[in-house]
Amino acid sequence: MVTVQENYYAQPELAARYDADADGRRDIPFYLALVRELAPSSVADVGSGTGLLCSLLVRADSAGMKVAGVEPQQTMLDVARRQPLADRVEWIHGTAADLPAAALDLIFMTGHVAQYFLDDAAWAAVLQDIAQSLVPGGRLVFEIRNAAAEGWRGWNDDEPRPVPGGSLRRSTTMTGDLATHIDEWTIGARTFTTRETLRFPDDATIAGGLDAAGLEVERSWGNWDGSPVTPDSPERIIVARKLPRDPTAGTGTAAFRLH
Ligand SMILES: C[S@@+](CC[C@H](N)C(=O)[O-])C[C@H]1O[C@@H](n2cnc3c(N)ncnc32)[C@H](O)[C@@H]1O
Repeated sequence: MVTVQENYYAQPELAARYDADADGRRDIPFYLALVRELAPSSVADVGSGTGLLCSLLVRADSAGMKVAGVEPQQTMLDVARRQPLADRVEWIHGTAADLPAAALDLIFMTGHVAQYFLDDAAWAAVLQDIAQSLVPGGRLVFEIRNAAAEGWRGWNDDEPRPVPGGSLRRSTTMTGDLATHIDEWTIGARTFTTRETLRFPDDATIAGGLDAAGLEVERSWGNWDGSPVTPDSPERIIVARKLPRDPTAGTGTAAFRLH
């Protein structure tokens, strides 16, 4: 019988090796370049995990940009506080609901954090919290795996595969738009079994939540090489801007389109 121990992020041994698993990720240079271009004076990373992006942002910054990392899992925050220049980041143990109102130029949800909101109500709520925390004209930047590309189909291992420090065997089941993966880890002499459910919302669901929160899609990409969103591109990488509400402006933005 499989005993599912816990959330991956609550296991100190797994949290401590998260950045090794994430080695070579392509989103980080993409987002660092975007921050250089947008030059915000304040940034928050919702679901900041091990704090890697926050740490890299303060390391790259020479203009005194304020950086906050928001993370509900204390185990991950403990890792984050050990990142280089972590003392220059404001760490918040919580969620987007804990961000100050009308305070931020840019809010990130990286590492597919946007897929942790498992139904329309949760998606609407986090976007409302984020919109309230942005200054007018402020931006939300995030990515979601393209539901239509069905990338979850590749999340099954017949045999354990090597990962830094050990091995992993993953099995995934899909129910509606929710993918649940059970991961059997062997790290050194220890084994862990973790379970996680992620949502794969379709484009209309993504856009509907943004629209309801008053966030207009400004730019989008379909992959980390900067290629456009297409029906089968692996990602929806989105920059959405908080616009001042214009009561004469009809139904709002609905600007997330394939192109
Ligand atoms: C895949 S990790 C991504 C971490 C980091 N953003 C990165 O890119 O490396 C997902 C993170 O989201 C956090 N998380 C889960 N549910 C959340 C929620 N409702 N609000 C904020 N963060 C959440 C988890 O604790 C975990 O640290």
